[in-house]
This record gives sequence, structure tokens and C-alpha cells, in this order.
Amino acid sequence: MAKIYVTDRNGGENEVEVPIGVSLMEPLRDEIDGGIEALCGGMCSCATCHVFVESEWFAKLEARQDDELELLEGTECFEDGSSRLSCQIIMRDDLDGMRLTVAPEE
Ligand code: FES
Repeated sequence: MAKIYVTDRNGGENEVEVPIGVSLMEPLRDEIDGGIEALCGGMCSCATCHVFVESEWFAKLEARQDDELELLEGTECFEDGSSRLSCQIIMRDDLDGMRLTVAPEE
């Protein structure tokens, strides 16, 4: 398990436990009021799991794949240096303490 710190859409601060080896999507969808919708269930086809990852942590993530980047670039609030689809971020030990913010609803 690792812990991440999430600012939700209501501005609330949340500590969320995420098992190592799984995506951030489910905990962000299931455990937070004002969290993500994740309408496609993690298939990288809806962009409703969009989050902004703080830069220090963003740099540690694996690079976005083309399909993830395409979806993100189609959102109104895309930020090149922080936007990720949370279904494409797999939890690792060294991401313990990561901070992110849920993107606005579109
Ligand atoms: S849950 Fe749909 S793209 Fe991530």
C-alpha cells in the first residue's frame, strides 16, 4: 500500500491508500466525494479520470502513451506538465506521497 494526497473537486483534501501495482482510478472513483467518474472503467477511452499531478511527481511517472495524450489534449483543461489519466498510472512504492488534483468536470 502507498498513500497519495488528493484535492477533490470540492477543494477537499483527501488521503487515499492505493495498493501497489494497481491503477489510481478505482480509489479515486470509489473513495472520494468529488472524485473522478471513470466512465469507461479504465479503458483509456473517456478522459473522465483526468487528474493534475504535481510537477515533482509528474516527472517520476512513466511517459504518456499516444492514446492517453490524444484524449487529454481533447479536454478543455489539458495542462502539458501535469495532466494524466489516473487509470493509466500504476501505483509503485516510489510514488508514495504523491500529490494530485482532480480535474474539473467537462
Ligand atoms: S477511466 Fe476512462 S480514460 Fe481513464
